[in-house]
Amino acid sequence: MQINRNYLNLQESYLFSTISRKVSEYKSKYPEKEIIRLGIGDVTLPLCEAVINAMEAAVLEMGTQQGFRGYGPEQGYDFLRLAVRDYYTSRGVTLQDNEIFISDGAKSDLGNILDIFGLDNTVLIPDPVYPVYVDTNIMAGRQIIYMNANEENSFLPMPDKEVKADIIYLCSPNNPTGAVYNKSQLKVWVDYALSHNAVILFDSAYEAFIQDKEFPRSIYEIDGAKQCAIEFCSLSKTAGFTGTRCGYTIVPNELVYENMSLNKLWFRRQTTKFNGVPYIIQRGAEAVFTEEGQKQIKENIKYYLENAKIISETLSDMRIWFVGGENSPYIWLKCPNDMTSWEFFDYLLETANVVGTPGEGFGKNGKGFFRLTSFGKREDIITAMKRISNLQF
Ligand code: MLT
Repeated sequence: MQINRNYLNLQESYLFSTISRKVSEYKSKYPEKEIIRLGIGDVTLPLCEAVINAMEAAVLEMGTQQGFRGYGPEQGYDFLRLAVRDYYTSRGVTLQDNEIFISDGAKSDLGNILDIFGLDNTVLIPDPVYPVYVDTNIMAGRQIIYMNANEENSFLPMPDKEVKADIIYLCSPNNPTGAVYNKSQLKVWVDYALSHNAVILFDSAYEAFIQDKEFPRSIYEIDGAKQCAIEFCSLSKTAGFTGTRCGYTIVPNELVYENMSLNKLWFRRQTTKFNGVPYIIQRGAEAVFTEEGQKQIKENIKYYLENAKIISETLSDMRIWFVGGENSPYIWLKCPNDMTSWEFFDYLLETANVVGTPGEGFGKNGKGFFRLTSFGKREDIITAMKRISNLQF
């Protein structure tokens, strides 16, 4: 028996597990300390009323002979896929029903999608980046080329015509930097993918945070994208589903490589390896797309963006360089006093009892940077910012 030796090329643990271990160690040493967690991007506001009402009704339905459901369609119930389709239509993007696949979140599908691609593909990944893109490709043993996201390009790398890539990851609004591509920048990426016969894996998990109308919320707002891009989205951050689990992946019918439809391959993969998202959860997700649901989740997003403003104002007052926080729940800052990301992590934890995420955990270009999330409770954000502004750098 041989193990998958590619796993030996991974870092010892997943970034957020390392952070969680470090915080637990600190907490067991100093149990009296009140730690504020602005590290992992986990939401804190409860599910909105529309979602709860829909899930309650679905629970009751499941308790009746008539309403009981067993296995559902692997790609999601029609009622939810149609709700997602209409959500895109309202933003000027037309989708076919069969292009929408309901998932248990973007993270799973971003990893699982790799099943349908050959192992010899070269993968282009921005650095810094959400670690899942890198780790899942290392697990499969694919060759990765990194593209630098840095201050010079405002953390929005553009294609280099000399680089030949087959699979390209883009995330906008970006995790971890909060940077957002505009339409003309995304058009350049789409043209690059089309001319290189490449596929773009577009992570739009934070699209609901975009306030500025100039920014696209879906890659399909760009001409030609349906011939070269798969989009992954999630209700985790949009509607507080981090613990509830529901998302969707769009695989357009126009995606054809080697005369094969990627939509068909993905359908084949999903029907074999996935039994779908629970009915009750899908009913809750459907409610997110109702008028009432949209109104309620927008209130929550507004709350998080106000948190981001409080963080941004504190950093500005302290003359700490940062980006993000306007169309994104993340604030990406430069560690003061030339501290490394992990030094700053320890310093913040020990002196302010505030947890953030070291930029280095997202790649080498994250060295010297640090990510704060605005998903905390308002009172925690205010307390954390008071503690941070009392620090001496
Ligand atoms: C993050 O903190 O980067 C996210 O919460 C991770 C995720 O969405 O899986």
